[in-house]
Order: sequence, then C-alpha cells, then structure tokens
Amino acid sequence: MRLWPAVFVAVLFLSPLALHAETPLERGAYLVNSIMACGNCHTPMGPNGPLPGMDLAGGNVFEEKPFTARAPNITQDRETGIGSWTDAQIARAIREGIRPDGTLIGPPMPIELYRGVSDTDLAATVAYLRTVKPVANKIAKSEYRMPLPPAYGPPVVSVPDVPRGDKVKYGAYLAGPLGHCIECHTPMSGPGQRDFANSTGAGGFELRGPWGLAITANITPHRDTGIGKWSDAQVKRAITQAIRADGTPLNPPMGYAYYARMTTADLDALVAYLRSLKPVKNAVR
Ligand code: HEC
Ligand code: HEC
Repeated sequence: MRLWPAVFVAVLFLSPLALHAETPLERGAYLVNSIMACGNCHTPMGPNGPLPGMDLAGGNVFEEKPFTARAPNITQDRETGIGSWTDAQIARAIREGIRPDGTLIGPPMPIELYRGVSDTDLAATVAYLRTVKPVANKIAKSEYRMPLPPAYGPPVVSVPDVPRGDKVKYGAYLAGPLGHCIECHTPMSGPGQRDFANSTGAGGFELRGPWGLAITANITPHRDTGIGKWSDAQVKRAITQAIRADGTPLNPPMGYAYYARMTTADLDALVAYLRSLKPVKNAVR
C-alpha cells in the first residue's frame, strides 16, 4: 500500500509525452546520422560508399581552387581524433569554427550556418560524438591558398530552440543551421558570399570531387526551372532516395542515405519550407 504514492507520481511524470521525449544522446544520434550528415564529409569514402568501421574517422579530400581541405578524424581517438577535447571545446569547434588551439576551421565545414544550431541540439551533438568509437587515423592538415577570416563572427552566446510546431520555421532550421541544404543550393554573389538575399535555393553551385563535377539543383518553387511542379512525395523521394521526379537517378555528393533516416515530421517541415521560398528562375540543367 505504501507504494501507491510513488506509483502515482511515476504515472504523472511518465505521461505519453515524457515517455517519447528523446534523451540528448538519442537526439544527437538522430541529428548526426540524418539531417546533419556529418559523416557525409567526415567518414572516409571508398568506391562502394562509406568505409566500414571508419565512422567519422576522416580523410575525404575537398579539392577546390583556393583550398585542399581534408576532413579531420572526429572520432574519440585521443591522439588522432577529438577524444582529448572537452565538451565545451568540441561545441565551440562546431558552432564557431574555433579549435582548442585557437586556429580557425576552414571550408567546406559549414560554420556560418552551424552558428544557428540551438544550445540543446549542440549539446546533443556533442553527447553523441562522445560515444563514437575511437579510430586511430592520422589526417594531414588542410591547405588554404586564401586568407581565412579572423573569425566567423562574435562569440555565439546562446541560441534558443526553434519550435517544431511551426513547420516552415522548423523546416528553415533543418535546411539551414542543421542540414546546410541552402549552402549547397544557393549560388554565390561574390567570393565566399552566398546570395541568400536574392537566390536562396536557386542552385547552380559547382562542386568538384571524386564524383566529377556536380551542379546543385534549383530547389525553389519555380515551376519551370525549380521543383514547383513536383509533388511533396516526389520531393521527399529525391531527398531520401536520390530519384528525380522523372525517375532518373540523382548524383552525389548530397547525403541521401543520411536524409533517408529523417522522420516523416522533419521531411514534412523541410518540404513546407522549400515551398515557402521565393521562386527563382534559374535553369541549372
Ligand atoms: C561539407 C563537409 C563537412 C560537414 C557536413 C561537416 N564537416 Fe566538420 N569539417 C570539415 C572539414 C573539411 C574540416 C577541416 C577544415 C580545416 O582543415 O580547417 C572540418 C573540421 C571539423 C572539426 C575540427 C576537427 C579538427 O581536428 O580540427 C570538427 C570537430 C568537426 N568538423 C565536426 C563536425 C561535425 C560534428 C559535423 C556535423 C554536425 C561536421 N563537422 C560536418 C567538413 C565538414
Ligand atoms: C553537398 C551539397 C548538397 C547538400 C548539403 C544538399 N544538396 Fe540537394 N543536391 C545537391 C546536388 C549536387 C544536386 C543535383 C544532383 C544531380 O543533378 O544529380 C541536388 C539535388 C537535390 C534535389 C533534386 C532537385 C532536382 O531538380 O533534381 C532536391 C529536391 C534537393 N537536392 C534538396 C536538398 C535538401 C532538402 C537538402 C538538405 C536536407 C539538400 N538538398 C542538401 C547538392 C546538395
């Protein structure tokens, strides 16, 4: 009988909502392995995709005119990864692009957008990275043949969560700070400057890599040059299965296999956001 008050309290707190609330670790695992797709850059790729047993162990090379960047090892290995960094140091590296030794992390790590990752999601990401199996894999330093800025901006003090109830707003958070979709899919307006003011999602950005030359698609709702005529299901199939509306396959380097792990609610929010973009006429293909 004396147990009853405890049971009552347990029932009160284990309401359906509380039962389904993710732990920070679960949230971090979800983010890193789906929308954030860190492994799409940080897990070494072989001819058949990500190398088994090498999750986040680094080594992919990004060869552009102004730089040869090498994705570092971000496993928990203490010597060759980030195992000896504190949680705060890892968080600062992701959201502000500053390593523990004070040096700046260069492109293509999407720091400008990661500055908008919420405090909760950043902590969740770090919690998950802490559980990544250490892999010893020493990666050479990147070479930048251009000046890196002194910083990506003032210190980020705090970023609140974006309410998931507002689909378009949450979709913008998914496509921006978390997924950097709009980084790949927005053309440049000047050196190092994306034209977010006029052409968000208009595509036409060129990416070179082992896949050859990829040109990003226009994902604005423009009916002739964008995805305005595609159904929601067709847009989701493109994002998660790499299949165009006309049934032809899409090419790398978009992280389709990661996005395939997104929840239906998150995919719905992404689509709602893409539909809200200003239609831009830009014939990429
Ligand atoms: C588009 C590719 C890309 C994506 C996506 C990306 N990174 Fe990076 N990241 C890089 C590159 C390249 C560097 C190294 C840049 C340099 O050498 O200055 C880097 C550097 C880092 C570093 C610094 C490590 C060190 O030893 O210097 C950390 C930590 C890191 N990334 C974590 C992450 C996490 C966590 C995610 C996902 C939330 C992520 N990155 C997503 C490309 C990427
Ligand atoms: C690393 C760069 C990159 C990132 C990040 C990226 N994409 Fe893409 N995306 C591409 C490229 C390149 C293509 C075109 C591939 C092709 O033509 O074969 C493409 C194609 C697409 C298409 C198909 C459109 C068409 O007309 O064929 C959609 C839809 C799309 N991306 C949406 C997204 C969304 C949503 C996200 C974020 C969750 C995203 N992309 C993230 C590079 C990227």
